[in-house]
Amino acid sequence: MSTRFEGKRVYVTGAASGMGRATAVQFGAEGAAVFCVDLNTDGVEETAKLINDAGGNARFACLNVSIGDDCRASIAAAVEALGGLDILCNVAGLGGIAPLADETDAGWRRIMAVNVDGPFYLSQAALPHLLASKGVIINVASTAALQGQAYMSSYAASKHALVGLTKTMALEFGRQGLRVNAVCPGGTKTAFLEGFQIDENIDLGLLSRTSLLENMAEPEDMAASICFLASDDAWFANGAILSIDGGTVAG
Ligand SMILES: NC(=O)c1ccc[n+]([C@@H]2O[C@H](COP(=O)([O-])OP(=O)(O)OC[C@H]3O[C@@H](n4cnc5c(N)ncnc54)[C@H](O)[C@@H]3O)[C@@H](O)[C@H]2O)c1
Repeated sequence: MSTRFEGKRVYVTGAASGMGRATAVQFGAEGAAVFCVDLNTDGVEETAKLINDAGGNARFACLNVSIGDDCRASIAAAVEALGGLDILCNVAGLGGIAPLADETDAGWRRIMAVNVDGPFYLSQAALPHLLASKGVIINVASTAALQGQAYMSSYAASKHALVGLTKTMALEFGRQGLRVNAVCPGGTKTAFLEGFQIDENIDLGLLSRTSLLENMAEPEDMAASICFLASDDAWFANGAILSIDGGTVAG
């Protein structure tokens, strides 16, 4: 088994499920100490158990990434528990289908709060620790960060914003040794898509123009790319926006 991340201290959001769980498990399997957080306490406890049962080193905590004070307290707890921080992975995210005319203020705010506010709060709180370790931030965006996605205005806007945050932080802190990159997954087999409700108002042709849902990835495929960007092999990658989507945004 690889020891690529031995001695590294990693914080992963969305770690109860899907890509976040797969990412935490891969870091744990490759020697990192992993701090797993999610709104879903049972799921994140299970992830930490999976890592520890396999001989790894994981802790878990419940966190709602949309609450700034809770994010700051959670980073402080992780730094205290791990003795510092090397890698922050903002994986937690929410999406859904809502034609623009039907989107509500609350729906818009909820998606922006989880997908943009959370990574902002956590990145800012982790910043002094990541500057000290010359660390890495990996944000999980989407193909919806790189192109429009019909019926997903809140989601696409939030993921475009996350790419803007990624590039800006990469510029602002790159010279101090902090790298900030994003992975843009295409359709991946996780619980994320289960909540998507498609009613008769949705033009399926328009919806499928920007996705290749017949060809879906596994969450482990995304974890592999997240771990690559976090690794020393990617030491020159800063501000990179890496599409892992089977060619969806290629044209
Ligand atoms: N699955 C896909 O097809 C796909 C495609 C592109 C991008 N993404 C992105 O990948 C990321 C991971 O999603 P996934 O596919 O693994 O889905 P998932 O639903 O399996 O995992 C998302 C996790 O985020 C957690 N979460 C949601 N709100 C939270 C909050 N307020 N605070 C803390 N945790 C919260 C959930 O509890 C869940 O465990 C998301 O950012 C999503 O936007 C997914």
